[in-house]
Amino acid sequence: MGQDDVESIRRMAGLATPIALRVAVTLALPDRLVGQGVRVDELADELGVAPVALDLLLAHLATLGIVEPIGSGYRTTEYGANLRADAGNGLVDLLHLDAAGGRSELAFVELAHTVTTGRAGYPRRYGQDFWADVAEHPRLRESFDRQMNHRLREEIPKLVAGVDWSRFGSVVDVGGGRGALLAAILAAHPRLHGHLLDLAPTATHARRAFEAQGLADRAQVTEGSFFDPLPPGADAYLLVDILHDWDDAHAHRILDRCLEAMRPTSRLLIIEPIGDFRATPEFNLAMLVMYGGRERRLEEFRTLTAPHRLTLDTVVDLTDQRCLLEFRPTDDR
Ligand SMILES: C[S@@+](CC[C@H](N)C(=O)[O-])C[C@H]1O[C@@H](n2cnc3c(N)ncnc32)[C@H](O)[C@@H]1O
Repeated sequence: MGQDDVESIRRMAGLATPIALRVAVTLALPDRLVGQGVRVDELADELGVAPVALDLLLAHLATLGIVEPIGSGYRTTEYGANLRADAGNGLVDLLHLDAAGGRSELAFVELAHTVTTGRAGYPRRYGQDFWADVAEHPRLRESFDRQMNHRLREEIPKLVAGVDWSRFGSVVDVGGGRGALLAAILAAHPRLHGHLLDLAPTATHARRAFEAQGLADRAQVTEGSFFDPLPPGADAYLLVDILHDWDDAHAHRILDRCLEAMRPTSRLLIIEPIGDFRATPEFNLAMLVMYGGRERRLEEFRTLTAPHRLTLDTVVDLTDQRCLLEFRPTDDR
């Protein structure tokens, strides 16, 4: 192995850079160092942090091109401005140590535990699983919902166009978040009725969003858990990025709830990254470490759904990241 290889592996493995970027975002350094920049001692004073340590952090960020030295201080570069809260690219929610995304990625320090046990690292680090943590800390819930809305922004038109929603009179969006996708589907199909179910604070936001978009008469909202009985009798039950958050035992419970709510003619639409099509190994590993879930491959979906007497009708590659798996209840159910 050449010295270059050793150096490139050392760089890949180094934790200083990923953590420095996250601390920079958490302290809002790229926001504070705009314009002509700020002196390190003044900034340390303003933030109530150790000046020498802050200087070292900024010096490292300068090697990354996030800030640049100016006089006795630093200022944010154009590149570093991507880490500002107003950049609108979703990075702050992914990296901020007090946001759901940034906090949950730190569960990677428990990767050895995850690999040994096959279980999430998150509860080991934080004492409870991701969803319990989010329920307990409103700021985590707020940032998670924002992150979810951001990630789907560009995909929504394709998710609306790629599925023949006109076949259905009613759709239940199970774990539908703040309702951005359901609102877009309803807007495109004026005869369709929707029903979104999610946990309380998120469902409340969805209700407000439907009202604001003039969809309240066709969009019902239920604050509740998908581990409890679901609104029955709809034509379609939608699970978008739900099953990949859960291990098999929980995924079976969610599927049980869908099946007991479905009629023989109802359809179950699972939309998420599918392991053999649209999931990167890195993201897949992250799903396991954070949630104890994973991007299941097609065969794993067949195995998961088999005991529920669901027949897989179609697999559609909908977007760069997500596929649709459409199931119907097996005829002899
Ligand atoms: C990955 S997000 C996906 C949200 C939405 N389907 C979307 O694609 O934007 C998972 C959703 O599941 C919801 N969730 C988690 N546990 C739940 C539960 N027990 N019952 C109902 N919803 C739950 C979360 O609040 C969150 O909105």
